[in-house]
Amino acid sequence: MNTPLHIAVAGLGTVGAGTLKLLQTHGEMLRQRCGRAIVVSAVSARDKGRDRGVDLDGMEWHDDAAAMAAQSGAEVVVELIGGADGVAKAVCEAAIASGKHVVTANKALLAHHGTALALAAEAKGVSLGFEAAVAGGVPIIKALREGLAANGLSRIYGILNGTCNYILTTMRETGAKFEAVLADAQELGYAEADPSFDIDGIDAAHKLAILTSVAFGCEVNFPAVHIEGIRDISSLDIQFAGELGYKIKLLGIARLTGSGVEQRVHPCLVPLAAPIAHVEGVFNAVVAEGDFVDTTVYQGRGAGAGPTASAVVADLVDIARGHRVPTFAVPATALAKIPARPMERHRGAYYIRLMVVDKPGVIADVTAAFRDEEISLESMLQRGRAPGEAVPVILITHDTEESAMSRALEKIAILEAVADPPRMIRIEGF
Ligand code: HSE
Repeated sequence: MNTPLHIAVAGLGTVGAGTLKLLQTHGEMLRQRCGRAIVVSAVSARDKGRDRGVDLDGMEWHDDAAAMAAQSGAEVVVELIGGADGVAKAVCEAAIASGKHVVTANKALLAHHGTALALAAEAKGVSLGFEAAVAGGVPIIKALREGLAANGLSRIYGILNGTCNYILTTMRETGAKFEAVLADAQELGYAEADPSFDIDGIDAAHKLAILTSVAFGCEVNFPAVHIEGIRDISSLDIQFAGELGYKIKLLGIARLTGSGVEQRVHPCLVPLAAPIAHVEGVFNAVVAEGDFVDTTVYQGRGAGAGPTASAVVADLVDIARGHRVPTFAVPATALAKIPARPMERHRGAYYIRLMVVDKPGVIADVTAAFRDEEISLESMLQRGRAPGEAVPVILITHDTEESAMSRALEKIAILEAVADPPRMIRIEGF
């Protein structure tokens, strides 16, 4: 029998404890599949005394995770601490510098330092595995890097944040308010420690930046992602979207164009018939479009101890088997520097909701602003009649350029009869 693969685990929170539990549950099965056992020889966490429901007997305990990464005799360091910088980064850098493979679930770290870490790992001849960083248990990194390796990819998009998908689904199904549903999501353990990472779209943007690099073979460029969250989505918009044949989803969308890479995270109206519209609750989904394979769809649980541990251990299995692939699908030294396509150049249809005072001439002023920017309207809907009071007016446009839409909305926002700031949600055709 081959020698075991010794691993050191930094961080014993939900995912760390879940990983140990999986390794203990499936130890024999994994030994057969890898041809060698995977053995946890060292662990590090903040509180040694805490009961995590897993047996730590026989494992070295380290108070200092970075020192463990540098000094332990393990072949692999599994980083499950989280955070873009600080201890998590120090652990990964120390592991790589001392010639150890790294497996991490840390999307923020990869989004901010992915290219540098990949360069360092590949220079040292070690693996940097991060299947668990994107869409939890959905094996999307392996699918893109290996299963779709024969395809040119031009677009990838998906539901990358389970908390937002849960909130939007529950608001639609129950009519409950945003804040109440967010509190439920936090209780269920899906939300990030700082929930603004979820609801402001940052967590989805971290994951999108990683997917973009793997899909298009370019350097990770998180600062180039256009990010909007779901704080401003109201039950009214969810209800109108439904009446018009759409659901509202927070999507991450990356597209390779002749003039650069477009990366955007924002709420979208998606047609009820689109596969992504059926992905509800905490589930994640990714759609990848390849030139030979056509459209492929991947779906599953994007968070939680079991699904995330499944992805962490899949990376460990690759390492145990000696299966090596370039970190971001092409060698890190060959990752392209592709310019970012600015959001102002985005073209698409738009849903606009205005609260306007119900009096003669208001719609003429609103439509004049669209006419001046050469924006063509597809349909318009006004519900209720309350002379002198604000009523919702919904406008759906034909495809237009984002810059024209921004200018039109600036003019509309200052009209005297427009009560609240206009609400704009982009429509995705798929
Ligand atoms: N907070 C994330 C989500 C979990 O809600 O999807 C894992 O990335």
